[in-house]
This record gives sequence, C-alpha cells and structure tokens, in this order.
Amino acid sequence: MIHSSIYHRADTMAAIRLLLSLLTGLCAYYFYSQETLSPFKPPEMVRGKRVLVTGSSTGIGEQIAYEFARMGAHLLLTARREKQLKEVAQKCLELGASSARHVVSDMNNLTSAQNVIEDARNKLRGLDYLVLNHVGGSGRFGPFQGDMAAVTSSMTVNFLSYVQLTVSAMTMLQESQGSIIVISSLSGKEAPFTLSYSAAKFALEGFYSSLRRELRLREISLSVTVAVLGYIDTDNALKIIGDKITMQANPKEECAREVVRAGVLRHREVIYPYWSLKPLLLYPFPIGKGTVITLLHFLFCITSHRMERGKPRRETS
Ligand SMILES: NC(=O)c1ccc[n+]([C@@H]2O[C@H](COP(=O)([O-])OP(=O)(O)OC[C@H]3O[C@@H](n4cnc5c(N)ncnc54)[C@H](OP(=O)(O)O)[C@@H]3O)[C@@H](O)[C@H]2O)c1
Repeated sequence: MIHSSIYHRADTMAAIRLLLSLLTGLCAYYFYSQETLSPFKPPEMVRGKRVLVTGSSTGIGEQIAYEFARMGAHLLLTARREKQLKEVAQKCLELGASSARHVVSDMNNLTSAQNVIEDARNKLRGLDYLVLNHVGGSGRFGPFQGDMAAVTSSMTVNFLSYVQLTVSAMTMLQESQGSIIVISSLSGKEAPFTLSYSAAKFALEGFYSSLRRELRLREISLSVTVAVLGYIDTDNALKIIGDKITMQANPKEECAREVVRAGVLRHREVIYPYWSLKPLLLYPFPIGKGTVITLLHFLFCITSHRMERGKPRRETS
C-alpha cells in the first residue's frame, strides 16, 4: 500500500517534470528558431510591390517606410505634415525604393481617408500592402474625466479611419492578394490614464482579428497582421510617457523590422518586444485560474504564430 502510493507520487512528479521540460523546449524552439530556422529573404518578396504607409512622417511609420524602401518597394506615404513627408520620401529613394510619393491627409476626416486610397489607385495602380499606423486625436495622458470629445476623436482617428482605409482599399487588396498590417498596442488590453487610446486599440484588435477569420472562411487570400507593440522610443512616445514610467523604451528601427517581417511573411500577429509578455507570465499569481489562463494564452500565441510562419506568399504578376 505504502509502496504503491510512493510509486504513484513519483509518477506524478515525473509527469510534471516532463510537461515542464516540454514547455521549456517549446519556448526555446520558438525563440531560437526566429532567426536560425527560417531565414527571411524579404527583398525578393517585396521588390516592386506597392505599399501605403499611414502616419509615415515620423516615428515607427517612418521606419516602416525605410524598411520597405530598402527592399525596393513603391511607396505612398501619408500624414498631415507635408515638409516631413517630403523628407521621408527623399530618404526612401536614397535607400532604394522603386518610387516614393506622398499625399497629405488628416485621418480625423473619413472622406480624406477615402481620398488617400483613391490616390493609391491613381498613383500606384493598385496596392499590395496597406500599413495602418497613424495615431492621433485630442486625448491626453491623465485620469479619465468624462471627456467625450477625446473619446470620439480617438475612435475616429485611431479606429474608424483604419476601417475606412481598409474598406476603400479592399478591392485592390483582393486583386493583389495583398496584406494589411495593423499597428496595435499592449495598451489595447488595458491602459489606465489613456482610456480613449486604449479603447481604439481594443476595437482594432476585435475588428481585424474577426476580419482575418472571415476572409479565411470565405477563402479570400488577403493576410491581416496585427502588430502588438510595447514601449517604443519614438519622439512622441518619449515626450508623452517618458517621465511617467521607468520601463526602457525599445528601438523603433528594430520594431519596424519585426513588423515588416511579420507582415511580409503573412503572420497573424507579431508582439514586439516579445518580452512585453514577460510581466504577464511572471506576475505573482497564486497557482490557479489566472496562471493557467495566462500560460494557455502564451501557448496559443506560440502555436498559432508558428502555424502561420513560412506560409508561401502568392505573388502578383
Ligand atoms: N511609440 C510607442 O511606444 C508605441 C507603443 C505601442 C503602439 N504604438 C503604435 O505605433 C504606431 C506609431 O506610433 P508612433 O510612436 O510612431 O507615433 P508618432 O511618432 O506620434 O507618429 C504618429 C504619426 O501619425 C501621424 N498623425 C497624427 N495624427 C494624424 C491625423 N489626424 N491624420 C493623419 N496622420 C496623423 C503623424 O504625422 P502628422 O503629425 O504629420 O500628421 C505621424 O506620422 C501607432 O499606431 C501607435 O499607437 C506606439
């Protein structure tokens, strides 16, 4: 009797050890395989493709434009400030872009968003990549005091204009079997003191995850990549929250590289920096429902991400 209970306990411990080893192995495989197991040859996949990057006068959008430029894409840049757009377009040409144009547009106005897509149709004769990146609105960092104007403005610039651009570009993107890259944020999960911004990012994730699934069910070959970003060292982010958090900001250049890589490989999601998830995992939950849900979510991210990796991209002529 005593022997059988000792053996039973030993079996359970062995099973737990095996499970932990498997989990560790899976994590190690995921992290190390990023660079070593699937070499990324982007220029051949992107050269000559037509790319629209919103909010590309500065910050992450500017860096995303440079990434596509290095790979020889045709670029259309948009934001409100023309002088900055011209400078970014010039640098794109120097980096190797096949062409670089710009269109001035305020995404607070949905007709203006529609016009940007008309410009893409006229100037690029179609679209392969729609990169939705701009961020604005009248919201400020601070306690929410019922400012409905800030909520409306954030939802218009940071959510509705994204949807409008997508709707207007849908035919072109379907024709090219193209890609939508949507820049979201960890703030879309929860972000005190930036409620209007958080709400817009949360809405983006719901809309674009559902759109991706719907396109797949309808067997439409158009990929949707959602980039969930942590704290990135753009001038505006540093200005707005630099003195309010102790976390180290991550480089915008590397962020743009990871986002473009995921978009070109048609991944469903990219999280940058990946260790943004670390606080969630290390959060001192007592072992229970919270821990299990967090681990399951992490495993889901890993496996679904892996399944999407390396899928062949159907090229347009
Ligand atoms: N930086 C971070 O820590 C961080 C973290 C998580 C997620 N993100 C996300 O990453 C993306 C880029 O962020 P970022 O830090 O690079 O932002 P940023 O430096 O502030 O750049 C924002 C861009 O959007 C444009 N823009 C602002 N209001 C606009 C409007 N009404 N109409 C059209 N364009 C407008 C700006 O250009 P103009 O002023 O010339 O119009 C600029 O090109 C955003 O979606 C943001 O939510 C950033």
